[in-house]
Amino acid sequence: MRILIHENYQQLSKWTAYYIANKIKEFNPTPEKPFVLGLPTGSSPIGTYTELIELVKQDRLSFKNVVTFNMDEYVGIPKDHPQSYHYFMDKHLFNYIDIPRENINILNGNAADLEKECYDYEKKIERMEGINLFLGGIGPDGHIAFNEPGSSLKSKTRIKTLTFDTIIANSRFFDNDTRKVPKTALTVGVDTVMQAEEVIIIINGYNKARALQKVVEEGINHMWTVSVLQLHPKGIIVCDEDATLELKVKTLKYYKDIEKEELMRKPELSE
Ligand code: GLP
Repeated sequence: MRILIHENYQQLSKWTAYYIANKIKEFNPTPEKPFVLGLPTGSSPIGTYTELIELVKQDRLSFKNVVTFNMDEYVGIPKDHPQSYHYFMDKHLFNYIDIPRENINILNGNAADLEKECYDYEKKIERMEGINLFLGGIGPDGHIAFNEPGSSLKSKTRIKTLTFDTIIANSRFFDNDTRKVPKTALTVGVDTVMQAEEVIIIINGYNKARALQKVVEEGINHMWTVSVLQLHPKGIIVCDEDATLELKVKTLKYYKDIEKEELMRKPELSE
């Protein structure tokens, strides 16, 4: 598991966007063999999405042959609700890039049969022969997608009840009113993410510092679901300085030292 500690959120976002862009370009996707990208919502990936949009605007990157699968969606709020993840993705990425609408996959939290919706989503990922790169963020309690503490590390796409911690954390988007936050969500499983060829997790800000410490300095633990990344052959955590505040000085220096060349390199696109 690589840990890349960037000075700030801006640098972290640029590095992540260029990394994803280079993966897409090197893959050379076609309509028959598209690049399959897993995507998160939340504030953490917004900077990365802004950088990706810029690359598309400059004609240096195309999403024409990219198929996306979003991690999660609330149950029971309309798709056009400003806090739905459908709305979020259009607002922060899809409306500004050249991705065909039919290439976008987001779980439908209003499906008549939610279990079937989850089953079909998982099957669709299988039919695409899996996800090439899954980008993710975490909640302050170390949850990935909506895999709340205690989730099975072998879980697949399913319905989850949100913990009170998550409801409080996400109430900032619902007029700070916990009663307005949906109580359940559809989410890819921990194992759905782990099956991707490559996984990048963005961890930024001091409120994620405890989770980063758990993932980097402690063992795999279902109470901090993102810690399973330790088992992924190609797992990368990109973080900012603020998120490292609970790490040991020795750990911080170690990762900064082994990644110093990568961190000093100016992000460039492979042509
Ligand atoms: C929600 C989402 C997660 C996301 C988390 C953190 O719980 N389901 O996928 O990682 O929020 O959001 P933020 O990046 O805003 O801290």
